[in-house]
Amino acid sequence: MSRRRDAGDYPTPPGIAGVLATEALRELTPDAAGGVLRILDPACGEGNLLLAAAACHSAHHGAELIGVEMDPGRAVRARHALADASRGGATIVCSDALLRPHPLRDGTFDVVIANPPFLSPTSRRGAIPATTRAQLRARLGPGVAALTNIATIFLLDSLRLVRPGGRVGMILPSSFLTSRDATGARAQVLAEGTLEWLWTDGEGVFDAAVTVCGVVITRAGRPHTTIRRSAGRHAAATGTAVFRPAAHAAGEPWRDGVHRTAPSSAGIIGDLTTPIAGFRRHYYAVTAALSDAPSGPGMRVVTAGLIDPGRVLWGTIPARLSHRRWEHPRVDTDTLRSAGRVSAWLDAVTGPKAMLATQTRVLECAVDPLGDLVPSVPVIALPASADRAWLIAAALCSPHLSRLAFDRHRGAALSPDAIKLSASEAADLPIPPRTAPWELAAVALADAAAAPDATGWRDALLRMAHHMDDAYGAPGAADTHTWWAERLPRFKTGNAGAPPG
Ligand SMILES: C[S@@+](CC[C@H](N)C(=O)[O-])C[C@H]1O[C@@H](n2cnc3c(N)ncnc32)[C@H](O)[C@@H]1O
Repeated sequence: MSRRRDAGDYPTPPGIAGVLATEALRELTPDAAGGVLRILDPACGEGNLLLAAAACHSAHHGAELIGVEMDPGRAVRARHALADASRGGATIVCSDALLRPHPLRDGTFDVVIANPPFLSPTSRRGAIPATTRAQLRARLGPGVAALTNIATIFLLDSLRLVRPGGRVGMILPSSFLTSRDATGARAQVLAEGTLEWLWTDGEGVFDAAVTVCGVVITRAGRPHTTIRRSAGRHAAATGTAVFRPAAHAAGEPWRDGVHRTAPSSAGIIGDLTTPIAGFRRHYYAVTAALSDAPSGPGMRVVTAGLIDPGRVLWGTIPARLSHRRWEHPRVDTDTLRSAGRVSAWLDAVTGPKAMLATQTRVLECAVDPLGDLVPSVPVIALPASADRAWLIAAALCSPHLSRLAFDRHRGAALSPDAIKLSASEAADLPIPPRTAPWELAAVALADAAAAPDATGWRDALLRMAHHMDDAYGAPGAADTHTWWAERLPRFKTGNAGAPPG
């Protein structure tokens, strides 16, 4: 292992430093009238982050730059680098910042910006003597636990160093977002501040072995549920995301999935329809009234297996229901209604609708424009006029919502690789603004539904996916797109004989 890696020591690339500084300083003005911003980097290395802060700030105001660096050689180089950086002046202190050398005092900085060392307490260099850890815990609270990474300790300490309304912008190992050892620290951060911005690297910007993230937190900020997101090796802005402080404070990981939320969401699926998932009794009532007939009276029954993205496969492939194979499952509605306690459900799911399968590798939604199909439990029915049903289905079939649902509800399905949604979870998924790309996506999905072969179907789905990316305004969605395309089911061809009646 190289010395640099052993020291948990990865200098911040200039591009990332610039984005972090911009986000930390965004719209921040000095606390006192006529003052300059006091900006601290408690692990400043050769001064990269302070230089970035000075560069993005100097156009507006002066700033006083303070750096702390333990390594004497780097401290000297930082002094040189920063000599002329800011008209507010620069001070570099060669010391251990966690020992709080002068001038590090609580509440006296407007901004702390840092890329602290990433050292696990189980590593030789990361081990903090028990007495020091106890002192840090006494000063910083229960977020400092036996296995807390040094980077997390810098974060907790920095939140104390800034004034209320001041900001901490920090690069951290991405394990901070999810690891159980950091649960207490994450809760403490949300008790003391508000998350404003989150960057997830995901590409090994610093080193293939370490993935990192970046956070900006306002001390004692007003809690809110929308954060700004950046992703990838250049920390490109990807829009906003929903962040639920209460759930996250209660221990839910600040998981990667937050960045998948629609950059330009204009509401939720539940604004367009009320999704309906039947219950066990509906399933049994339907299976008790089934017959197998290509044509004739009775409504066609659609199982999850008979739905592929855009396509209803009734009559094309057989269904499995009640431990049996049915080539053309139909239900006699009079018998069904006589079963009692299912009429209201039958009325609600009869009529034009979108239908969403569950336990699938991507969200698979198709449309029943004429309204004469009965969804078998657990298919979710989304009643809406035919035009609207195609829009709903296009949104649900988008790579973006598959990824979002996969991230949000990972682990709920029988298979860890499948997506399982309840009706209310489907209702909670975001929709894009009603724009031309969304309409084009709906048309492309209808093309997929009518496609006679695998090529036509897949081409139409890919067109639908691109239009939906445009509709959601999801820049940098290429990885999601590839993930989704690889998970699409194969095109199924007929073996069940006669066309639907
Ligand atoms: C990952 S480097 C970051 C340097 C710089 N901020 C940047 O982004 O390029 C971390 C720096 O923190 C210094 N350091 C580690 N522990 C420290 C401590 N307890 N107090 C002050 N500096 C420390 C290391 O010597 C190293 O130069």
